[in-house]
Parts: sequence; structure tokens; C-alpha cells
Amino acid sequence: MKDGTCTNFSLFIFTDFEKENTMTTAPAMIETKSVIKKVNTSEGELQILHPISFTVKPGESVAIIGASGSGKSTLLGLLAGLDEVSGGHIMIDGEPLHSMNEEQRARLRGEKVGFIFQSFMLVQSLTALENIMLPAEIAGLSDPKKRAQKILEQVGLDHRANHFPNQLSGGEQQRVAIARAFITNPKILFADEPTGNLDSTNSSKVENLLFDLNKESNTTLILVTHDNELAQRCQRQLRMHAGELSEQTPILKVVSGE
Ligand SMILES: Nc1ncnc2c1ncn2[C@@H]1O[C@H](COP(=O)(O)OP(=O)(O)OP(=O)(O)O)[C@@H](O)[C@H]1O
Ligand SMILES: [Mg+2]
Repeated sequence: MKDGTCTNFSLFIFTDFEKENTMTTAPAMIETKSVIKKVNTSEGELQILHPISFTVKPGESVAIIGASGSGKSTLLGLLAGLDEVSGGHIMIDGEPLHSMNEEQRARLRGEKVGFIFQSFMLVQSLTALENIMLPAEIAGLSDPKKRAQKILEQVGLDHRANHFPNQLSGGEQQRVAIARAFITNPKILFADEPTGNLDSTNSSKVENLLFDLNKESNTTLILVTHDNELAQRCQRQLRMHAGELSEQTPILKVVSGE
């Protein structure tokens, strides 16, 4: 019933309805207004994102789903300040990301944003522990090693602290990438297909880890996924279709019928 079709059943309830309505009216953590993205190609200008406006509250978990090539990673990159908008506004925790230069965006990323790349993007010449320490060192946080050891333990990899990425399994590398994204205690965590490359065992370990850490630190979680079950674990689902974003209606759950 994940697509919300309703045939032959007599009664449905909105499972996320109460959750949505008990949320406080805190200021937005992410607010976009008419965000567009255009790129120049050999065939001329290509508009990847059409005006996108939405708001995410602090602590919310939001899944972005949609077909390959629909613009999910492009949007995530803009929201995380990794790329520049072609038009429109993005406010992150009250700060105008759209009008910042690269240096200012790097500062905001260091202070408020964690990013988990689908392809891990670990530094191959650094050990697991050193990879995790890196953002804390760049942000000038105290005791980066101690912090890294603690979070490495949280992700169940303390016994792999001194291994280099090529000595780790895919699932282990993904957990290092998650630990690295969390070490600065970011207000927002962006994850681009965090379980895309994992088998089902590692996938569920990584998912639990993401949501546990999200709950513990009240981190706003924005994740891109092709995995419907993972999307349903988030409080909201947004669908990207050919560069346009729309809110999915609440999931319908069958409680009786045949
Ligand atoms: N720099 C660029 N130049 C030209 N086209 C681009 C550029 N970046 C992205 N695109 C195009 O924009 C579209 C959206 O790309 P994007 O990576 O955001 O898709 P996606 O939804 O994340 O897809 P997937 O699920 O396969 O990861 C694609 O058609 C892609 O080819
Ligand atoms: Mg993508």
C-alpha cells in the first residue's frame, strides 16, 4: 500500500497524521522559496530544477524519492551549500545560504551540516579514526580524537580505528562516513542514498544507526533514497519528478478489509 492506492478495502487510517499535528511551530530549519538550478551544456542551457519551495522543521526526518535523473542529488547539493542556486532563496537555520560566497558556505557547512555521500568519499590515505576526526579538526572543536573514538564506538567500529578505507567492507566504510557526518553534531544531516550500496543486513544496521543518532541529537534528517521502506521510516516523503518537488500524501494503512 505504499503508493496509497485504495481498492477493495473498507477502512484506512492516516498513520503519520497525529505525528504531524503534535509538532511544535518552531522556526524552520530549512526554508526554500522558488529555488531553481540551471546548467550550461553543449546543447544550451538545461534547467534541472524548476521552482522548488518547501519548509522543514527542526528535528524532522524527510525522505526525497523519485526516478533516477529527476534532480534529487542536485537539490541535496544546493541545500547543503555544496553548489549554488541559479535563482530563489534557501534559508538554513535562519541564514541566507543563497547569498553566501564559497567561503561563507564552507563555514556554514562546517558549523551546521553533515553530508553522507552515496560513494562514501572517505580520504583513502587516512585511517577510519582520522577520517572521522577531520571535520572536527577543521571546525576547531576540542579533543577531536576523543570525539572520534566515541562516535566510532557508537557505530560499532572501534576495533577498526586504524584501518584504512580499502581495508574496510562497504558497510564499514558507510558507517565511517556516517560517523564523520555526525562528529560535529550537525543541526542537519543530508544523506544521499545512504544504503544504496549495501546488502540487506548492513542496510538495516546503517538505517537504525541513522535514525538512532537522529533521535539522540534531534538532528534534522534529509535523505534521498530509492528504498520505499527507508522512505516510510521518515516523517515526510517528498517526491521529485522531472525537477519538480511535491509532497506525498500521508501513507494509508489498512486496518480491516479483504
Ligand atoms: N553539471 C551538470 N551538467 C549537465 N547536466 C547535469 C549536471 N548535473 C546534473 N545534471 C543532470 O540533471 C539531472 C538530475 O541529476 P541528479 O544527479 O540530480 O539526479 P538524481 O535524481 O539524483 O538521480 P539518481 O537517482 O540517478 O542519483 C540529470 O538528468 C543529470 O544528467
Ligand atoms: Mg542522485
